[in-house]
Amino acid sequence: MADEIFTSPRLAVLYDALDPDRDDLDAYLDMVGEFGARSVLDVGCGTGTLACLLADRGLEVVGVDPAGASLAVARGKPGAERVRWIHGTAESLPVLSVELAVMTANVAQVFLTDEDFVSTLRAIRRALAPHGLLVFEVRDPSRRAWLGWNREETFSSTSIDGVGDVEAWCDLLDVQGELVSFRWTHHFTGRGESATSDSTLRFRSRESVAACVGTAGFALQEVRGAPDRPGREMVFIVSAGTGRVP
Ligand SMILES: C[S@@+](CC[C@H](N)C(=O)[O-])C[C@H]1O[C@@H](n2cnc3c(N)ncnc32)[C@H](O)[C@@H]1O
Repeated sequence: MADEIFTSPRLAVLYDALDPDRDDLDAYLDMVGEFGARSVLDVGCGTGTLACLLADRGLEVVGVDPAGASLAVARGKPGAERVRWIHGTAESLPVLSVELAVMTANVAQVFLTDEDFVSTLRAIRRALAPHGLLVFEVRDPSRRAWLGWNREETFSSTSIDGVGDVEAWCDLLDVQGELVSFRWTHHFTGRGESATSDSTLRFRSRESVAACVGTAGFALQEVRGAPDRPGREMVFIVSAGTGRVP
């Protein structure tokens, strides 16, 4: 189940306005060209920014996400009719044979147990063509990004068309080993209302990610950095290979 921040209609409509700088997607657009992919599966596509950009370039695109409210935002975007949107998780995908699958914006960190992560990776592998690639990013745990997840460092006040002024900030709730819990608060100043959404992400080590990737039957090809966040992210490029999905 996705977090409230993605499933609540009144929070999902804020996502793009509160995080308008999507330089992070440039590297994925570049990799589509680098790998010569003509079909892309965007797992955890959220409000569909990347999926729409890819479809606009003439690619065949499938976007899947369990958060219906985020998908509703995606479906309302110009050109969204060129994307095949699927409401669900990777496990619920129909038969596909895409050349590239992606998980952007640290979607891979939402899987808290190895069982869930491996199950998702296996489902993605089933959706890929025999030599298809999966690219996904996770935050480098050694950078301890959560140390900046406090009101002082995350506060923003944004005027959003049709919504009004929204103040947003993040508070760290708990750190238990690799599991980091935090709360986003959104205050709708015009209405005098607030909404909170709690999340937990797993900060896996490179070795732990690589082990899950291997268990799911992928071959690790490369781990590179994210150009827009140097030294902070690990971008995994893994190949479905030709073997049987375990
Ligand atoms: C930080 S958002 C990223 C959205 C999008 N990839 C982007 O770049 O803007 C994380 C997304 O992961 C989705 N998500 C949560 N649980 C998931 C699951 N089990 N399978 C696939 N996506 C999931 C959420 O609904 C949300 O849309």
